Amino acid sequence: MTSDAWVWSYLPSDTQPTLCGHFVHANTPAGLPLGRFVYGKRFLKNPDALPLDPLQLRLSPRTYETTALQGVFGPLQDAMPDDWGRHVIERLHGGRLPITAYLLLARDDRTGNLVFSSSAGEQPQCESFPGIEVLEPARGVLRGIELDRPIDEQLAHWVQPNTAMGGARPKLTIEHEGSLWMAKFPARNDHGLAVAKLEGAMLALARLCGIQTVQAQVVAQDILLVKRFDRARVHTPGSQAAAAAWRRDAFVSARTVFYADPAVQGTAETGSYPRLATELARCSEAVTQDRHELFRRMVFNCCVSNTDDHDRNHGLLAGDEPGYYRLSPAFDIVPRVHQTRRRYQALGIGDAGALVTRENLVSSCESFDLRPRDATAIIDQVQATVATNWRACLQEQGATGEEMDALSACFAPLIEDIEVGDFGRPTAGQA
Ligand SMILES: Nc1ncnc2c1ncn2[C@@H]1O[C@H](COP(=O)(O)OP(=O)(O)OP(=O)(O)O)[C@@H](O)[C@H]1O
Ligand SMILES: [Mg+2]
Repeated sequence: MTSDAWVWSYLPSDTQPTLCGHFVHANTPAGLPLGRFVYGKRFLKNPDALPLDPLQLRLSPRTYETTALQGVFGPLQDAMPDDWGRHVIERLHGGRLPITAYLLLARDDRTGNLVFSSSAGEQPQCESFPGIEVLEPARGVLRGIELDRPIDEQLAHWVQPNTAMGGARPKLTIEHEGSLWMAKFPARNDHGLAVAKLEGAMLALARLCGIQTVQAQVVAQDILLVKRFDRARVHTPGSQAAAAAWRRDAFVSARTVFYADPAVQGTAETGSYPRLATELARCSEAVTQDRHELFRRMVFNCCVSNTDDHDRNHGLLAGDEPGYYRLSPAFDIVPRVHQTRRRYQALGIGDAGALVTRENLVSSCESFDLRPRDATAIIDQVQATVATNWRACLQEQGATGEEMDALSACFAPLIEDIEVGDFGRPTAGQA
């Protein structure tokens, strides 16, 4: 089935979107999903125009084509809902829909600076978001959606503007104290310590390790409020449209960066930290700083068993220099308890792939502009900070001794290398 959408972007500092091009989604004769994108002539003549992504969709009159990522170019996919938002849209609009419907029906909360319309003449309008008072009543509505219960129409107006953010967990964007926040709710399969508390504690621990993270706070016991890093209120004197006064910064995920390389598009390559570090040379406005920060995040994720560090849990945010990016603040850091000490990250970390060992971490240090000695010093520092502070960070969130004991294996010291590693079950008190 062929379907299409018009693509608009908020250029730096603008509070209204500019039409930039047209996306068509179809199938190849062999039945593969095929996406085509072409920039509009007027956009190409606009001196302030910026490409939708720093690597693949350069400003050019050509028609871009892709069969990677189900025929959806990376920056469009980053602006599209994942499991959670798609589920909500399907509940509100019925059944599986053509791919562009997930762009057009998803609402204004999407990360980044892109918006979509079904015709070129229809400029997408900004929507306003509910306040913090909706969190309690929304809890039941979101749980009902998870459980496939009918959605009360009266309540649907809270979830409808909140369908475009990525990720699998139930979430809503709200306006609170002059900023936008993503509220992450508990999910029905959660058990043990509230994930909000765990995530809040890990963000605090990451900051102690010198990592730049999102700003976050736990409210109502088990909801994590995460400040949106891609939106900032713009104070326009005399502005009538309060809802329109948000600046939106461009965002691309690591997945978009990885898939910009045609050599990767037909493969099952999952991407790696060193690869992202290498690509930073082409799109970061502070390459060495970002590479050092990325190395620290990789080490931290290994030290806290955040093994769900997949390519949409890292991203780049527009920098100050038009067209250039910086690593976005770190987000979505949650330890996972593994049955053995042999662990793999979702992204590759070194010569031995995604296997978590100190040796493997050091093996890729050159990609991060680090000498082995400096890389080792960072690993030592992050590991020592984690070992000293993980309990205090969890205690700060009200975790009980039992809840902490259940998590202690997540913070066990890194295995040296594969020869000397103990890959058996973690024993009590190993942390
Ligand atoms: N503070 C933020 N501001 C703007 N966008 C964000 C922010 N934090 C995360 N995002 C975007 O929202 C998406 C979902 O957020 P997050 O990863 O925290 O949710 P999740 O449901 O826990 O994800 P997962 O499915 O990986 O478990 C991210 O992939 C990222 O694109
Ligand atoms: Mg995520």
